[in-house]
Amino acid sequence: MRTKTLGGPLLIGGGGGIALYKVCTLVSTWAKTTDPVRVVLTEAAQRFVTPLTFAALARHPTYTDQDFWQPNRSRPLHIELGTWAGVILLAPLTAQTLARLAQGLADDLLTNILLASTVPVVAAPAMNTAMWEQVSVQRNLRLLLEDPRYHLLPPTMGRMACDTVGSGRMAEPEELLAYTQSLFWTQGHRDLIGKRVLISGGGTREPLDPVRFIGNPATGRMALALARACFHRGAEVTLVHAPLTEPVPDFIQAQAVTTSDQMKHALQQAFPACDLLLMNAAVADVRPSQSYPHKLAKADLPSQLALEPVPDILSELVPLRRPHQKIIGFAAQTGDILPPAWAKLHRKGVDALFVNPVDEVDSGFATTHNRGWLLLRTGVSHEFPSAPKLAIAHQILDGLGSI
Ligand code: CTP
Repeated sequence: MRTKTLGGPLLIGGGGGIALYKVCTLVSTWAKTTDPVRVVLTEAAQRFVTPLTFAALARHPTYTDQDFWQPNRSRPLHIELGTWAGVILLAPLTAQTLARLAQGLADDLLTNILLASTVPVVAAPAMNTAMWEQVSVQRNLRLLLEDPRYHLLPPTMGRMACDTVGSGRMAEPEELLAYTQSLFWTQGHRDLIGKRVLISGGGTREPLDPVRFIGNPATGRMALALARACFHRGAEVTLVHAPLTEPVPDFIQAQAVTTSDQMKHALQQAFPACDLLLMNAAVADVRPSQSYPHKLAKADLPSQLALEPVPDILSELVPLRRPHQKIIGFAAQTGDILPPAWAKLHRKGVDALFVNPVDEVDSGFATTHNRGWLLLRTGVSHEFPSAPKLAIAHQILDGLGSI
């Protein structure tokens, strides 16, 4: 069986748009891993960023149409690169390249590579809002996406270089990176197509007054990794989140909450429509019995705080579950992890529980990596060694396949 990883040989096709500057960051990040990256630029792309810039960042010469027409090659360059790549990223995908690919045209190096390869492609369009919304452009996009090889990383809303505010900005480098990594993991397989996944994340805050609360160090990074992984695998994703330290990507439908009561309400509303609930939020277990609408002066702060339990959201959702719905709990533990985690899985009545240690360096709250065990109600468990949170998210989703 293939060992799944988030990396491999990446080929980037850069188009002629100002968003190409963002691709420099991605090439730099990728080149710092052990995985190789090659860049192919269209004629127009070279007017925005030079081949030299990408060659320096990739530690490898950049390919252009000039290389394509070199007479002294033993093997055609488009075949060589098309078979070398594990995943291809088109960023930015311009209206012109989109139109040519939708028609199956092959009149330069980049379009020839795409026809000569069979690997998954992440397409990250970027163009002015009016261009993006043109009937012809949207028709070309639909045509391109008829081929399941092509995965769309949609453009986002915002102010563009032309000062238009609207849809058409290319996704940020972190999103290009995450989608590309996911496609190396899944090989482009969309096992969650047609599924609606509901995810909770972040740490709830239970206020004493407008400036003080009971909370926990959760940042929501694991929930964001789960949301991205589910989206990359074809799901429609809703994220109900307490305060996060990072923005939620546009392609995730997000609802922000603060307290456990608000989270409970939002999840109860959204739960009936979902196929899978990933209950990743770190819900504060208690709240002050009394909270104040105005800021308490230091002298007025109580010397002792009376506390009351907050609702156990998960335990209230489990009885509402219909046969097709799966519910996964998460547990941050310290000390002896597995015996209490198995007990918690049965107590909460969930289909699976991911348990991770939070008393170790580089695992748990506010870290880039995580490790832990996925316990299934069938009694099977999978251990995942330390890995980036996106890899842990994919391992969890892979592990759920059998329940
Ligand atoms: N959870 C919840 N509502 C709460 C507390 C927890 O929905 N009030 C959910 C969490 O989102 C998580 C799972 O329950 O998916 C396990 O959380 P954990 O805090 O480990 O569970 P507790 O029941 O609080 O267990 P413990 O006694 O170990 O604190």
